[in-house]
Amino acid sequence: MLDKFKKIAAQAAINYINNKNINIVGIGTGTTIKYFINMLSDIKNNINGFVSTSISSTIELKKYDFHIYDSNEVDSIDIYFDSADEINNKMEMIKGGGAALTNEKIVSSIANKFICIVDQSKHVNILGKKYPLPIEVIPIAKSYVFKELSKLGGYPKHRKGIITEHGNIILDIYNLNISKPKKLEKYINSITGVVTVGLFANRCADIVITGNYDYTVSIINNTK
Ligand code: 5RP
Repeated sequence: MLDKFKKIAAQAAINYINNKNINIVGIGTGTTIKYFINMLSDIKNNINGFVSTSISSTIELKKYDFHIYDSNEVDSIDIYFDSADEINNKMEMIKGGGAALTNEKIVSSIANKFICIVDQSKHVNILGKKYPLPIEVIPIAKSYVFKELSKLGGYPKHRKGIITEHGNIILDIYNLNISKPKKLEKYINSITGVVTVGLFANRCADIVITGNYDYTVSIINNTK
């Protein structure tokens, strides 16, 4: 149902880079990004190569014979395109619905610019009330991290059947009211056994492209 709004946002992101020379583009994970990759094959611009955040996005990129670099091979990433599960008006996000949060955090940290492509449903006033906060955890630390996260007032739940590309598990914390995302991100990252928290507040998006329910596209640019 939301797919058409994801597609119009992805198309606007394509228009943003069309006819520009870009060395390295970072590519996120999920359905929105799958549309974006598909549309990339139509534009005649000059992209040297891509750094992918997941096996699934790599498979999509390979369908179009795009050149893929390992993140350690590149000095920098010019632009990173990804979506989000929730985004607030400060461009802070919850990500990790596709369990690729660790790679997404690494690539977004390397990137000079982060462009987030979303449909209107992803915009919220306060993060964490609707969508659970995903956390990648080393399996042996599951019970300990579970207890530490429960102290925050949310309800952690083990995402069954999911092992990340790094061999870890995902805990989703429900009913968190995230009023101070930057502080919470740092705190959860400091818990022993936590690999990555899916809060992207300290490195938030620079530009947000939204596909609205009335078929318009909004672009918020924080880099100006
Ligand atoms: C993957 C992510 C995705 O960006 C997020 O889950 C949104 O996905 P979709 O485009 O399918 O709505 O963070 O880890």
